[in-house]
Amino acid sequence: TSRVRIHHLQQAKARGEKWAMLTAYDTYSAAIFEEAGIPVLLVGDSAGNVVLGHASTVAVTVDDLLVMTKAVTRSTKRALIVADLPFGSYESGPQQAFDTAVRMMKDGGAQAVKLEGGARVAPQIRLLQESGIPVMAHIGFTPQSKHALGGFRVQGRGAGAEQLLADAHAVQEAGAFAVVLEMVPAEIAGQVTKELSIPTIGIGAGVDCDAQVLVWPDMAGLNGGRVPKFVKKYADLRGELLRAAKEYADDVRGGVFPGPEHSFD
Ligand code: KIV
Ligand code: NA
Repeated sequence: TSRVRIHHLQQAKARGEKWAMLTAYDTYSAAIFEEAGIPVLLVGDSAGNVVLGHASTVAVTVDDLLVMTKAVTRSTKRALIVADLPFGSYESGPQQAFDTAVRMMKDGGAQAVKLEGGARVAPQIRLLQESGIPVMAHIGFTPQSKHALGGFRVQGRGAGAEQLLADAHAVQEAGAFAVVLEMVPAEIAGQVTKELSIPTIGIGAGVDCDAQVLVWPDMAGLNGGRVPKFVKKYADLRGELLRAAKEYADDVRGGVFPGPEHSFD
């Protein structure tokens, strides 16, 4: 058995079959999501927020994501593993993007990389693609530029729609194999999906995208704080883990754990 390949995603679009992507950062999450049949796992720089405790993705380093990418690739056999290129590791030019992507693939074992931006990163996408590195693009709301975009807000409304469409076409022309659309009006995302031949992966972009992605600790309810409107909570892992930790602590305080069955003669 081999991993999901980018042409499988192309075929899914041609057949009108939708698929789901999740983030993964460690061995258990990666193995569970693969077992669940998730074809593509993203080692996202959302790890900055949901793993490393930063306030944004801006602080995330290549070394941070390399450690997680290695864990995720070691723990899976079937899923296509995409590694994010963190802020500051690709913007200065195609050569910088290439050097970072090579680390993610050679050291990390990723099969593809993702970077943020539309037309402005087309030269980066082109060099990577020509070098045999599959690239996933990411347009609309791009968290690494949240300071420039004026905070966490929907992109591509009104006059922004034209820019979004232009960026979508630019990344496709440059050779991206798929594009994430983040926080884009559902109607515009549907139009982009129709116009592009590569799959669109929505997050806060409505149901007409070819695929969807969510940040796993958000969808699994591990996050105790506010989650964006586009997140559907499929579990309450925080509640469950809180209950387990409290019960364990109570058992230890009460002398109930460990019992004879957990002890050696
Ligand atoms: O880092 C991340 O998790 C992402 C997805 C939300 C697309 O970029
Ligand atoms: Na990201």
